[in-house]
Formats: sequence, C-alpha cells, structure tokens
Amino acid sequence: MKIAVIGTGYVGLVTAVGLAEFGHNVIGTDKMADKIEKISRGEIPIYEPGLEVLLKSSLKKGNLAFSADVNETIQASDIIFVCVGTPQGDDGSADMSQIEEVSRFIAENLNGYKVVVEKSTVPVKTSSWIKRTISLYKKSDMDFDVASNPEFLREGSAVSDFLNPDRIIIGVETERARDILVKIYERAKDRLLITNIDTAELIKHASNSFLAMKISYINLMANLCEKTDANIEQVAKGMGLDPRIGSLFLKAGLGFGGSCFPKDLKALIKIGEDLGVNMNLLKETDRINAERARIFLEKIKKALWILKDKRIAVLGLAFKPDTDDIREGPSIRLITDLLDEGAVLRLYDPEAQNNMKELFPEDKARITYCRTPYEAAAGVNALLICTEWREFFELDLKKIKGLMANPIIVDGRNIYNPDDVRKIGFEYYSVGRK
Ligand code: UDX
Repeated sequence: MKIAVIGTGYVGLVTAVGLAEFGHNVIGTDKMADKIEKISRGEIPIYEPGLEVLLKSSLKKGNLAFSADVNETIQASDIIFVCVGTPQGDDGSADMSQIEEVSRFIAENLNGYKVVVEKSTVPVKTSSWIKRTISLYKKSDMDFDVASNPEFLREGSAVSDFLNPDRIIIGVETERARDILVKIYERAKDRLLITNIDTAELIKHASNSFLAMKISYINLMANLCEKTDANIEQVAKGMGLDPRIGSLFLKAGLGFGGSCFPKDLKALIKIGEDLGVNMNLLKETDRINAERARIFLEKIKKALWILKDKRIAVLGLAFKPDTDDIREGPSIRLITDLLDEGAVLRLYDPEAQNNMKELFPEDKARITYCRTPYEAAAGVNALLICTEWREFFELDLKKIKGLMANPIIVDGRNIYNPDDVRKIGFEYYSVGRK
C-alpha cells in the first residue's frame, strides 16, 4: 500500500515520518515547493525533538519521499492522509477551504480505489462534505471511502506521541476502509478504537475542549486561592489524587495557548451553536483563559506600580516548553500590554526568539532580544517567567539577583519554591499561592 500525506505542517510532517517509521511507503506533498525541497534534504522547518533524525533515516532507507506535485502523489497512492490546515475563521469556526481544495484534487486524480483519511482537526460532519465534493468533481467511476483518524500529538513530544499513542481513533463507514486502516496501525492494534465517522470527528474536539476546560478550572481555583490562604499547588495535588480527576492538566498559570486548544475550543462552540446546542460551559472556559493575561499584568503592576520606562525581562516566549511555536501564546498578549504601558523589554527564549522577532522586531529603545537569561536580567526592575523551560528551573538565582536593578520575580508558571527565592532576597509573586 502506498500512502500519501497531503500537507507538511506539524501534523503532516510527523504523520509522514511516523508512518514511514512503521515501515510503510510514504510520499509527503505540499503546495509550498521550497518547503518540500528543504524537507527532501532532511531539514525540518519547525523545532520538534527527534523529528529530524527519523526524517533523515527514512529518507535514506528510501520508504519516505517528498514531492511538490500533488496530482502525481495522489495518483500514485492508495491511501491519502489529509493534513492541511484548518485555521480559525473570523467567526471562530474552522476555515475549511484547504480541505475542500484537496478534496477536489483527489477527485480529479481518482485513478483507482482510494481511502481518504481526515487527519486534520475538522468539525463533525466534515467527512460528508469531503465525500460530496469528491463525488461531484470526480472524472472516473472509481470508488473511494472517507475515514477519520484524528491526531492527538502534542508539540514537543509529537514523535513519541505518534509512535506510542494512548489511543488510535478510526472512524469508518465501510469494512474495506476499516481493514486498510487497521493494517496501517497493526503495530498498535491493542490501542485501536473503531467508531463511526461523526464520533471519531467529535472525539478530537471533545478531548481538546475537555483538557482546555480542566486548565481553566484550575486557573479559576487559583483566582480563589489568591483571595484566601489556600495554595493552588496543594489544591491541585489534593484533587489529582482522586483517580476520577487525575493529576495531569491541573497546572495553574498563564492559561493555554498553541495552535490547537484555543482554536478547537472556539470551533466546537461554533459547531454546537450552529446545531442549536447551548455551549456556555465552553464559552466560560474561553473567557477564563482570556483573562489570564490581565491577571498577570495586574500582578506585575502590584510589584512595580507604574510600568512606563521600567526595564522588564521576559523569560520564555514559546506557548509552552520544547517548542519554537508562539501561536496564541500568553507572551504575545503580555508583550503587547507591557509595550502599551511604556515598559522597556529584554526578551529571552531558547527556541522561539526568531518567531517572536517577526511579530515584535528588535528595537533598541524598547525591545532587546538576549542570548541568555542572564543577559536578559541585566539592569532590569523585574523578571517575568512566561514559559516553564527546563533551563529556567536551574538558573543561578543568586547571580540573577546580582545582575538585576531590583530583585523582583513575577512567575506566571510557578516554577520556583517561594521560600527558596525569598531566602535569596527576591520579592516573589506567583500564581494561586502566597
Ligand atoms: C494539544 C493536545 O495536548 C494534543 O493532544 C492535541 O493534538 C493538540 O493540542 P499542544 O497544543 O501541543 O497539544 O500542547 P499541550 O501540551 O497539550 O498544552 C496546551 C496548552 O495548555 C499550553 O499552553 C500549556 O502551557 C497549557 N497547559 C497545559 C496549562 O496551562 N496547564 C496544564 O496543566 C497543562
């Protein structure tokens, strides 16, 4: 069986490399020819631990190739994984134009039976639209099936998530498509859940929105802790010991960002409302997340009073550690707010600086990008922790204190023990605890 993967973004590239690692013959394709050229040389356009090594090894073995010719790639394949983007549209719904375009390409190149697999996160019922589009535009009387196989990978651990998934959801409506997909995932057959297509599509949105809700819930509790003597770390620990709740995704902080949670949450709200279902629970989840930045800014003001001309170091720009992705990250809102208040910023992130420079170019008067956290701390009135990169846990805080103009830390991710930092002589503010 020959597999095509259309779209070489985060999901597509990891899917192509992962399926090749399973031993399949895979061709990845994308309309961005320069990207395909780069990937064909073994270079990855994103930062993702472990991905480049596997890409190079499969390219060398010869069971993974990339082509900028979408038509040829479709014709040469039996199974087509659709991994193109479904960005957020103006009304919160997912923009499905790339999925529609790919469906037409598939229709025009349907030279034999093919299974079209949705891997991108799509609204429930998308498969019917794909089916209708292919049927409308196909030029042959060849048969095809549509299936749903949502991807749950997390940035930063995408490779291991793909190779060792908790579950593989397969939504199908024919035995023929089912057998093919079961064969593809033979290696993880103990983790397959086979459902109808609507169910598979909904599982993805339902999972991400549930996790987003869990994060907003713990952030709501952190707000309560800040008004009382309760400590959010212990509240989360106490809650998490109940196996029905579980300890994961109970980390209070600056809220969720990234390319999935904010977008998927808004898309599910829109899907529900279009279907006449009251989605207020998820709307509140979104609102609580949106207010995290304001609450953080209030803490910074509590520490510094007036922010105009204050020098502030921001450590961590990526929306979470182990990625260079800044999309929907709290740092974007924070930097915008701090600049509006007239602060002078010294920014540091081990991987995401180049991406942030595109949004906020270096400007010696207001924004300086630094090579190390220590360089960022030089002469500042306060230091902010925005992303919990490992290296920030291990900073020499005594040295940092010596470099700063005022020893103030506002920690949006609770990475330090308050007693320890205060012992060193810092004024320390964190989330949901004294
Ligand atoms: C997520 C899902 O985990 C993944 O299954 C899906 O396919 C894509 O979306 P990702 O966006 O890579 O993956 O990041 P994840 O590690 O899930 O974190 C999402 C956001 O939640 C980050 O901004 C993170 O900082 C935040 N978060 C996570 C918290 O604020 N608290 C937590 O306890 C956990």
